[in-house]
Amino acid sequence: SQQRRILIAGNWKMNGSLKANSELIDGLKKAELGASSPEVLVCVPTAYLAQANDLLKSTKIELGAQDVSAHQAGAYTGEVSSTMLSDFACQYVIVGHSERRAYHHESNELVAQKALQSLRANIFPIVCVGETLEQREAGKTSDVVVSQLRAVMDVLDDGALARIVVAYEPVWAIGTGKTATPDMAQEVHAVLRATLAERSEFAAARVRILYGGSMKPENAKDLLSMPDIDGGLIGGASLKASDFLAIVAAA
Ligand code: G3P
Repeated sequence: SQQRRILIAGNWKMNGSLKANSELIDGLKKAELGASSPEVLVCVPTAYLAQANDLLKSTKIELGAQDVSAHQAGAYTGEVSSTMLSDFACQYVIVGHSERRAYHHESNELVAQKALQSLRANIFPIVCVGETLEQREAGKTSDVVVSQLRAVMDVLDDGALARIVVAYEPVWAIGTGKTATPDMAQEVHAVLRATLAERSEFAAARVRILYGGSMKPENAKDLLSMPDIDGGLIGGASLKASDFLAIVAAA
Protein backbone atom coordinates (compact mmCIF):
# COMPACT_ATOMS: atom_id res chain seq x y z
CA SER A 1 0.00 0.00 0.00
CA GLN A 2 3.09 2.28 -0.03
CA GLN A 3 2.22 3.77 -3.41
CA ARG A 4 -1.42 4.39 -2.48
CA ARG A 5 -2.47 7.05 0.01
CA ILE A 6 -4.37 5.50 2.92
CA LEU A 7 -8.04 6.50 3.05
CA ILE A 8 -9.90 6.42 6.36
CA ALA A 9 -13.61 6.84 5.70
CA GLY A 10 -16.39 7.08 8.24
CA ASN A 11 -19.83 5.79 7.31
CA TRP A 12 -22.23 7.40 9.74
CA LYS A 13 -25.13 5.35 8.33
CA MET A 14 -28.53 6.66 9.51
CA ASN A 15 -27.23 8.37 12.64
CA GLY A 16 -26.95 11.97 13.73
CA SER A 17 -28.82 15.20 14.25
CA LEU A 18 -27.86 18.83 13.66
CA LYS A 19 -26.58 19.01 17.21
CA ALA A 20 -24.80 15.64 17.32
CA ASN A 21 -23.15 16.23 13.93
CA SER A 22 -21.80 19.58 14.94
CA GLU A 23 -20.32 18.10 18.13
CA LEU A 24 -18.82 15.16 16.25
CA ILE A 25 -17.26 17.41 13.59
CA ASP A 26 -15.91 19.71 16.30
CA GLY A 27 -14.18 16.67 17.77
CA LEU A 28 -12.79 15.64 14.37
CA LYS A 29 -11.32 19.10 13.85
CA LYS A 30 -8.73 18.23 16.50
CA ALA A 31 -7.03 15.98 13.96
CA GLU A 32 -3.74 17.36 12.76
CA LEU A 33 -3.63 16.36 9.13
CA GLY A 34 -0.52 16.96 7.09
CA ALA A 35 0.81 15.85 3.74
CA SER A 36 1.85 12.44 5.08
CA SER A 37 -1.43 11.86 6.93
CA PRO A 38 -4.05 9.56 5.56
CA GLU A 39 -6.92 11.04 3.61
CA VAL A 40 -9.88 11.42 5.98
CA LEU A 41 -13.50 11.30 4.84
CA VAL A 42 -16.92 11.28 6.46
CA CYS A 43 -19.96 9.92 4.61
CA VAL A 44 -23.00 11.55 6.17
CA PRO A 45 -26.75 11.08 5.70
CA THR A 46 -28.07 12.98 2.66
CA ALA A 47 -30.14 15.29 4.85
CA TYR A 48 -26.98 16.62 6.51
CA LEU A 49 -24.78 17.15 3.46
CA ALA A 50 -25.30 20.92 3.51
CA GLN A 51 -24.54 21.17 7.22
CA ALA A 52 -21.47 18.95 6.99
CA ASN A 53 -20.22 20.80 3.90
CA ASP A 54 -20.37 24.08 5.86
CA LEU A 55 -18.73 22.69 8.98
CA LEU A 56 -15.94 20.93 7.10
CA LYS A 57 -15.01 23.88 4.86
CA SER A 58 -12.09 25.06 6.95
CA THR A 59 -10.73 21.53 7.48
CA LYS A 60 -8.84 18.90 5.49
CA ILE A 61 -11.61 16.38 6.14
CA GLU A 62 -13.50 15.42 3.00
CA LEU A 63 -17.21 14.89 2.54
CA GLY A 64 -19.02 11.92 1.06
CA ALA A 65 -22.52 10.56 0.65
CA GLN A 66 -23.87 7.09 1.41
CA ASP A 67 -25.82 6.42 -1.77
CA VAL A 68 -26.63 7.97 -5.15
CA SER A 69 -29.20 7.47 -7.88
CA ALA A 70 -28.41 5.44 -10.97
CA HIS A 71 -30.12 8.22 -12.97
CA GLN A 72 -29.24 11.86 -13.58
CA ALA A 73 -32.61 13.65 -13.37
CA GLY A 74 -36.31 13.23 -13.83
CA ALA A 75 -39.19 11.26 -12.39
CA TYR A 76 -37.33 9.34 -9.67
CA THR A 77 -39.09 10.38 -6.49
CA GLY A 78 -36.85 10.32 -3.45
CA GLU A 79 -33.62 9.86 -5.39
CA VAL A 80 -30.57 12.14 -5.33
CA SER A 81 -28.29 12.44 -8.36
CA SER A 82 -24.51 12.57 -8.39
CA THR A 83 -24.68 16.11 -9.81
CA MET A 84 -26.71 17.16 -6.77
CA LEU A 85 -24.11 15.59 -4.50
CA SER A 86 -21.37 17.53 -6.21
CA ASP A 87 -23.28 20.77 -5.46
CA PHE A 88 -22.43 20.02 -1.81
CA ALA A 89 -18.77 19.32 -2.52
CA CYS A 90 -19.05 15.56 -2.12
CA GLN A 91 -15.88 13.92 -3.33
CA TYR A 92 -16.90 10.34 -2.66
CA VAL A 93 -20.07 8.30 -2.50
CA ILE A 94 -20.58 4.81 -1.10
CA VAL A 95 -22.35 2.52 -3.58
CA GLY A 96 -23.61 -1.00 -3.01
CA HIS A 97 -23.27 -1.09 0.75
CA SER A 98 -24.44 -4.51 1.96
CA GLU A 99 -27.27 -2.86 3.88
CA ARG A 100 -28.61 -1.43 0.63
CA ARG A 101 -28.05 -4.70 -1.22
CA ALA A 102 -29.95 -6.56 1.52
CA TYR A 103 -32.76 -4.15 2.45
CA HIS A 104 -33.27 -2.40 -0.88
CA HIS A 105 -32.49 -5.36 -3.14
CA GLU A 106 -29.77 -3.53 -5.05
CA SER A 107 -28.35 -5.78 -7.75
CA ASN A 108 -24.76 -5.84 -8.96
CA GLU A 109 -25.96 -4.15 -12.17
CA LEU A 110 -27.70 -1.31 -10.33
CA VAL A 111 -24.62 -0.76 -8.17
CA ALA A 112 -22.54 -0.59 -11.36
CA GLN A 113 -24.85 2.10 -12.81
CA LYS A 114 -24.52 4.10 -9.58
CA ALA A 115 -20.72 3.91 -9.81
CA LEU A 116 -20.89 5.07 -13.42
CA GLN A 117 -23.16 8.02 -12.58
CA SER A 118 -20.89 9.12 -9.72
CA LEU A 119 -17.86 9.21 -11.95
CA ARG A 120 -19.82 11.26 -14.48
CA ALA A 121 -20.10 13.97 -11.81
CA ASN A 122 -16.43 13.52 -10.84
CA ILE A 123 -17.30 11.82 -7.57
CA PHE A 124 -15.28 8.75 -6.65
CA PRO A 125 -17.52 5.76 -5.93
CA ILE A 126 -16.61 3.56 -2.98
CA VAL A 127 -17.86 0.23 -4.28
CA CYS A 128 -18.72 -2.14 -1.43
CA VAL A 129 -18.40 -5.87 -1.85
CA GLY A 130 -18.58 -8.68 0.67
CA GLU A 131 -19.90 -12.14 1.44
CA THR A 132 -22.43 -13.29 4.01
CA LEU A 133 -21.51 -15.86 6.65
CA GLU A 134 -23.42 -18.52 4.74
CA GLN A 135 -21.49 -17.75 1.55
CA ARG A 136 -18.17 -17.84 3.41
CA GLU A 137 -18.98 -21.17 5.00
CA ALA A 138 -19.93 -22.55 1.59
CA GLY A 139 -16.50 -21.54 0.24
CA LYS A 140 -18.00 -18.91 -2.08
CA THR A 141 -16.25 -15.78 -0.79
CA SER A 142 -14.06 -15.20 -3.84
CA ASP A 143 -16.86 -15.94 -6.31
CA VAL A 144 -19.20 -13.50 -4.59
CA VAL A 145 -16.81 -10.57 -4.27
CA VAL A 146 -15.35 -11.07 -7.74
CA SER A 147 -18.77 -11.03 -9.39
CA GLN A 148 -19.75 -7.93 -7.42
CA LEU A 149 -16.58 -6.18 -8.59
CA ARG A 150 -16.78 -7.47 -12.19
CA ALA A 151 -20.25 -5.99 -12.64
CA VAL A 152 -18.77 -2.55 -11.96
CA MET A 153 -15.68 -3.22 -14.10
CA ASP A 154 -17.98 -4.15 -17.00
CA VAL A 155 -19.44 -0.64 -17.28
CA LEU A 156 -16.21 1.34 -16.82
CA ASP A 157 -13.34 1.97 -19.19
CA ASP A 158 -9.78 1.55 -17.87
CA GLY A 159 -9.40 5.24 -17.02
CA ALA A 160 -12.62 5.28 -15.01
CA LEU A 161 -11.74 2.00 -13.34
CA ALA A 162 -8.56 3.52 -11.93
CA ARG A 163 -10.66 6.16 -10.16
CA ILE A 164 -12.85 3.91 -8.06
CA VAL A 165 -12.32 2.83 -4.47
CA VAL A 166 -13.32 -0.68 -3.42
CA ALA A 167 -14.40 -1.57 0.10
CA TYR A 168 -14.31 -5.19 1.22
CA GLU A 169 -16.89 -5.55 3.95
CA PRO A 170 -17.62 -9.11 5.02
CA VAL A 171 -21.30 -8.94 5.96
CA TRP A 172 -20.77 -11.10 9.06
CA ALA A 173 -18.26 -8.56 10.41
CA ILE A 174 -20.47 -5.47 10.08
CA GLY A 175 -21.68 -4.09 13.37
CA THR A 176 -21.09 -7.46 15.03
CA GLY A 177 -17.79 -6.82 16.77
CA LYS A 178 -16.38 -9.74 14.74
CA THR A 179 -13.50 -8.64 12.56
CA ALA A 180 -11.85 -10.56 9.77
CA THR A 181 -8.29 -11.32 10.83
CA PRO A 182 -5.67 -9.32 8.91
CA ASP A 183 -4.75 -12.50 7.00
CA MET A 184 -8.34 -13.31 6.09
CA ALA A 185 -8.92 -9.78 4.87
CA GLN A 186 -5.61 -9.62 2.98
CA GLU A 187 -6.48 -12.83 1.15
CA VAL A 188 -9.70 -11.31 -0.22
CA HIS A 189 -8.07 -7.94 -0.95
CA ALA A 190 -5.42 -9.75 -3.01
CA VAL A 191 -8.14 -11.56 -4.99
CA LEU A 192 -9.86 -8.23 -5.68
CA ARG A 193 -6.62 -6.60 -6.82
CA ALA A 194 -5.82 -9.53 -9.08
CA THR A 195 -9.29 -9.17 -10.60
CA LEU A 196 -8.60 -5.51 -11.35
CA ALA A 197 -5.21 -6.46 -12.81
CA GLU A 198 -6.81 -8.84 -15.31
CA ARG A 199 -8.27 -5.72 -16.91
CA SER A 200 -5.67 -3.06 -16.16
CA GLU A 201 -2.38 -3.21 -14.26
CA PHE A 202 -2.54 0.56 -13.97
CA ALA A 203 -5.92 0.47 -12.25
CA ALA A 204 -4.88 -2.43 -10.03
CA ALA A 205 -1.87 -0.48 -8.78
CA ARG A 206 -3.89 2.67 -8.16
CA VAL A 207 -7.25 1.56 -6.77
CA ARG A 208 -7.48 1.65 -3.02
CA ILE A 209 -9.14 -1.33 -1.40
CA LEU A 210 -10.54 -0.50 2.05
CA TYR A 211 -11.48 -2.97 4.75
CA GLY A 212 -14.76 -2.51 6.62
CA GLY A 213 -16.38 -4.47 9.41
CA SER A 214 -15.88 -3.70 13.08
CA MET A 215 -12.66 -1.78 12.48
CA LYS A 216 -11.68 -0.03 15.71
CA PRO A 217 -8.64 1.61 17.26
CA GLU A 218 -7.48 -1.76 18.68
CA ASN A 219 -7.41 -3.67 15.39
CA ALA A 220 -6.80 -0.92 12.85
CA LYS A 221 -3.00 -0.99 12.85
CA ASP A 222 -2.72 -4.71 12.10
CA LEU A 223 -5.31 -4.57 9.34
CA LEU A 224 -3.80 -1.46 7.77
CA SER A 225 -0.32 -2.94 7.75
CA MET A 226 -1.35 -5.62 5.22
CA PRO A 227 0.01 -5.01 1.71
CA ASP A 228 -3.36 -4.80 -0.06
CA ILE A 229 -5.36 -3.02 2.65
CA ASP A 230 -5.31 0.66 1.78
CA GLY A 231 -7.66 2.07 4.36
CA GLY A 232 -10.83 1.50 6.29
CA LEU A 233 -14.56 2.09 5.99
CA ILE A 234 -15.69 2.58 9.53
CA GLY A 235 -19.24 2.43 10.85
CA GLY A 236 -19.76 2.37 14.61
CA ALA A 237 -16.33 3.70 15.53
CA SER A 238 -16.77 6.72 13.22
CA LEU A 239 -19.50 8.11 15.47
CA LYS A 240 -17.07 8.82 18.30
CA ALA A 241 -14.45 11.43 17.40
CA SER A 242 -11.79 9.96 19.71
CA ASP A 243 -12.18 6.44 18.23
CA PHE A 244 -12.21 7.66 14.64
CA LEU A 245 -9.14 9.81 15.21
CA ALA A 246 -7.37 6.92 16.92
CA ILE A 247 -7.90 4.89 13.75
CA VAL A 248 -6.58 7.79 11.66
CA ALA A 249 -3.54 7.91 13.95
CA ALA A 250 -3.00 4.15 13.60
CA ALA A 251 -2.88 4.44 9.80
O1 G3P B 1 -19.59 0.82 5.98
C1 G3P B 1 -19.02 0.55 7.21
C2 G3P B 1 -19.55 -0.65 7.85
O2 G3P B 1 -20.55 -1.33 7.25
C3 G3P B 1 -18.85 -1.23 8.99
O3 G3P B 1 -19.62 -0.97 10.10
O4 G3P B 1 -20.04 -0.65 12.47
O5 G3P B 1 -18.89 -2.73 11.67
O6 G3P B 1 -17.70 -0.56 11.59
P1 G3P B 1 -19.02 -1.25 11.55
